[in-house]
Amino acid sequence: MTENELFELAMEARWGAYAPYSSYQVGAALITEDGSLYTGCNIENASYGAANCAERTAIFKAVSEGHRKIVMIAIAGGSGERTNYAYPCGICRQVMREFSDPEQLKVIVGDGRGELKIHTLEELLPESFGPDFME
Ligand code: THU
Repeated sequence: MTENELFELAMEARWGAYAPYSSYQVGAALITEDGSLYTGCNIENASYGAANCAERTAIFKAVSEGHRKIVMIAIAGGSGERTNYAYPCGICRQVMREFSDPEQLKVIVGDGRGELKIHTLEELLPESFGPDFME
């Protein structure tokens, strides 16, 4: 699976978004170390703080099915037809930290017109705290 293909899956997952309050729809698609694929979308709530981001929906789906390491995650976000580089929020970066090797994990964002930016999690969350500190 290429970066472009994974980003396309994130674009498709956007259709599942439940975002009546922000009207900002986000989709995410990830690959685990054994090649399994999961997607997710943002899910908002009338009690705004109860919203869940697309990345965490996808990661929690994977973890709940027994996976513990993701190697690539793509994110597509925007309002309606207008998508642009949707960088993951701080909480999602920290959740990625728990279930990846930060130097290996590729985080892909796109402008919706075929232009991708690819970062490692280490670039997006340097000097981070993770499970290894708790050993
Ligand atoms: N959102 C995500 O799904 N992922 C992020 O990384 C940032 C924000 C969602 C949360 C909320 O439903 C909407 O985008 C606006 O913040």
